[in-house]
Amino acid sequence: MAEPMLAVEDLEVRHGAIRAVRGVSLHAAPGELVVILGANGAGKSSTLMAIAGALRPASGRIRLNGRDIAGARPERIVRIGLATVPETRDVFPDLTVRENLTLGSFIRRSDRAGVAEDEARMFALFPRLSERAHQPAGTLSGGEQQMLVIARALMSRPRVLLLDEPSLGLAPVIVDQIFAMVAELKQSGLTILLVEQNAAKALAVADRAYVMRLGQIATEGDAAEIRSATDLGALYLGG
Ligand SMILES: Nc1ncnc2c1ncn2[C@@H]1O[C@H](COP(=O)(O)OP(=O)(O)O)[C@@H](O)[C@H]1O
Ligand SMILES: [Mg+2]
Repeated sequence: MAEPMLAVEDLEVRHGAIRAVRGVSLHAAPGELVVILGANGAGKSSTLMAIAGALRPASGRIRLNGRDIAGARPERIVRIGLATVPETRDVFPDLTVRENLTLGSFIRRSDRAGVAEDEARMFALFPRLSERAHQPAGTLSGGEQQMLVIARALMSRPRVLLLDEPSLGLAPVIVDQIFAMVAELKQSGLTILLVEQNAAKALAVADRAYVMRLGQIATEGDAAEIRSATDLGALYLGG
């Protein structure tokens, strides 16, 4: 097998005395869309935050495009090619939509032409953001803010995108738009690691899936297999 774009081996993440992630191994091949499912508290966000460098792993190895990133600073990880959309969905509310986007390209500040090109690409991908380019981000709807944080993450030109519950709390029509956009990003060749509560929709777009329970990987397999073999309703129940 070719080297995965992202490989996590035997990851452990702690919050003080709580071992939130225990012995998790997972990988994503170039261009693959991999989903992590699991009940609240299963350790999904802790796993993503450790990969992104926002939490320091207690142990384990993380490789991104052949480079060791475990414990590296978040900015270095972005530079190596990984962008993250955390579940907090934070925009800078007083800055305009365009200014929020520009902040996403901080690692390439001096490349003005490239940044302008990417901004145009984002406005084409997210027409709603284009219409609202000069509005403060705080005036956007929840769905528009989610689109904005995804677009901002893409402004760093990542090879790998981590998405933590992008559909959470959004209206069904917006949820469908988010999943359509994720599928489109996959078509463009991006490697995606998606955390979702909406198991049915996530498995419909994903190549492979991991199900986490109590900080560990309980099940893994092709998305279609997991879809037919698992009682999806059970994934929503407490761990
Ligand atoms: N900042 C934190 N401080 C203490 N415990 C935390 C913190 N964040 C998460 N946890 C705990 O770690 C475990 C995993 O949480 P999390 O990774 O957020 O799970 P998920 O994203 O699957 O809901 C849970 O028991 C949760 O209560
Ligand atoms: Mg979470």
